Amino acid sequence: MDPFRENLFAGKTAFIAGGTSGINLGIAKRLAGLGAKVSVAGRDPQKATNAAAEIGGTDVAVGLSCDVRVYASVEEALDKAVATFGKLDIVISGAAGNFVAPALGMSANGFRTVVDIDLNGTFNVFRASYAHLNRPGASLIAITAGQAVNARMLQAHVCAAKAGINHLVRVLAMEWGPTGVRVNGISPGPIADTEGMARLTPTPESVKALTDRIPLRRYGTKDEIGDATAFLCSAAAKYVTGTILDCDGGSQLGDASTRDGAHGLM
Ligand code: HXC
Ligand code: NAP
Repeated sequence: MDPFRENLFAGKTAFIAGGTSGINLGIAKRLAGLGAKVSVAGRDPQKATNAAAEIGGTDVAVGLSCDVRVYASVEEALDKAVATFGKLDIVISGAAGNFVAPALGMSANGFRTVVDIDLNGTFNVFRASYAHLNRPGASLIAITAGQAVNARMLQAHVCAAKAGINHLVRVLAMEWGPTGVRVNGISPGPIADTEGMARLTPTPESVKALTDRIPLRRYGTKDEIGDATAFLCSAAAKYVTGTILDCDGGSQLGDASTRDGAHGLM
């Protein structure tokens, strides 16, 4: 049985930056499945059009072209979303970039590119959205990652960018709370069948090694991140702001493997 009431988001509209693939497309589908109208935006216009068709077609979804690194591009996409569905209630900032490289194998432009998409992109999306969301009940969610809290080798750019996102969420929650606007983050753990995990754990061996360390002993699903999003956007979370919700099978707690009989004691 679905844990959420049918048509929970009927009459609501959502804009999902980076919603044209992976986890964010999963979020878009979940919100649309619960009755919301959704706009999904990414750099590749064909990918955006395909994503909207996959979500359910023109009655429920529109695909928009947007580069979150460019403020005017974000404003334009938001304007088109509002022109299509009349208003905005929910904004998700999920666009991200990643590659695996040591800091010394990363050019200044490589580092800047990821920070620009993830952190500056989230500022741009949230800053430009506020004009459309400035009323009680509006909800913004940033998609962050465990790298924000736990330092990870070969991920200097992502660690720095996602840590910035977590703190940006807290500041905006304070500044925008008085108008009833809520700002939160979701930190997914490893999610199956995504570009992110294809880059970080490209072999069955690396998948197994990581799975063995997760308390719940499996990767998460896009639907599970969709559920976490639905909760945070719903009235069930109406007193929740400035929080980062870990949806990660307990990954943040540390290494839960029991190899060599260590049982986490060392
Ligand atoms: C070293 C690299 C590199 C690599 C790119 N660069 N790949 N450096 N090792 N493997 C460098 C380039 O050489 C260049 O620097 C700079 O990065 C910018 O590269 P471009 O290709 O020009 O950038 P762009 O076209 O804007 O593409 C951005 C991108 C790309 C991040 C590099 O991979 C992308 O578009 N990614 C989007 C999809 C994605 O990454 N999805 C996963 C998100 S998952 P120079 O100096 O040569 O100009 C995620 C997971 C988080 O975020 C945590 C999971 C647990
Ligand atoms: P993904 O499929 O690669 O999704 C990235 C999305 O962002 C795509 O829609 C992409 O479309 C868009 N995008 C990238 N650069 C953009 C830009 N400059 N402007 C606008 N859109 C841009 O990745 P994913 O693995 O599902 O990850 C989604 C989110 O979850 C990310 O925030 C990631 O950090 C987070 N996360 C993922 C995992 C995981 O297990 N995968 C774990 C923790 C956190 P275009 O390429 O067309 O622009």
